[in-house]
Amino acid sequence: MPFDRRIKIAPSILSADFANFGAECRAVEAQGADWVHVDVMDGHFVPNITFGPATCSAIRPHIKGVMDVHLMIAPVDPYIEAFAQAGADIISAHLEAGPHIHRTLQAIRATGKKAGLALNPGTGTDAVAHLLDMVDLICVMTVNPGFGGQKFIHSQIEKVRQLRAMIGDRPVHIEIDGGITTETAPLMARAGADVLVAGSAVFKGGSVSAPEAYGANIRAIRLAAESALSGTLA
Ligand code: DX5
Ligand code: ZN
Repeated sequence: MPFDRRIKIAPSILSADFANFGAECRAVEAQGADWVHVDVMDGHFVPNITFGPATCSAIRPHIKGVMDVHLMIAPVDPYIEAFAQAGADIISAHLEAGPHIHRTLQAIRATGKKAGLALNPGTGTDAVAHLLDMVDLICVMTVNPGFGGQKFIHSQIEKVRQLRAMIGDRPVHIEIDGGITTETAPLMARAGADVLVAGSAVFKGGSVSAPEAYGANIRAIRLAAESALSGTLA
């Protein structure tokens, strides 16, 4: 998984057909997705339940590229090995999920997987200062985690700007998760994000039997983000 800061679109399968995950993953990749974002929720850390490592393992063979697993669970540590075994490329844990995020990030890296640090909208950037050399990705939640289709929280733009400055030359991705559309993607690209997770905005209007809408949605989000960047550079 070579590092680069180009814009990457990561459809969240939270908005896919849960009875058809394999075909949905193949469809979004065929339609131009860079990564596939997999939301794991436990009904405890967040008020919703999705699925666990067995489902991740089942969908893994249907994803050619990067499988980006976002754990919204507490505790995290007892399950890291299972998600690594399930074939995740990146495993993100929430800073708020327990008192020992430093240990959790060490445990993720010890499996040989990339370590992601996810931040709720209410969490400040100071909490990240001593973790920067332990992470491959910081996921800034731009909604409160738990559900797709929520409204983008604008205060997170400044957080991304701060994180981008703190990261400097380190090979750390900034991922944005929640409420990404063609309107909000440019704001985040300009602030310094390179991975844009989008659930409802990618899956709207399409299906596995009519996947062209996924492609049009992915291209529209990418174009909006990239145009904002070329505007900045001009
Ligand atoms: C929210 C999840 C997101 C969600 C994004 O808790 O982590 O990945 O699926 O969905 P949209 O893009 O619809 O806000
Ligand atoms: Zn997510």
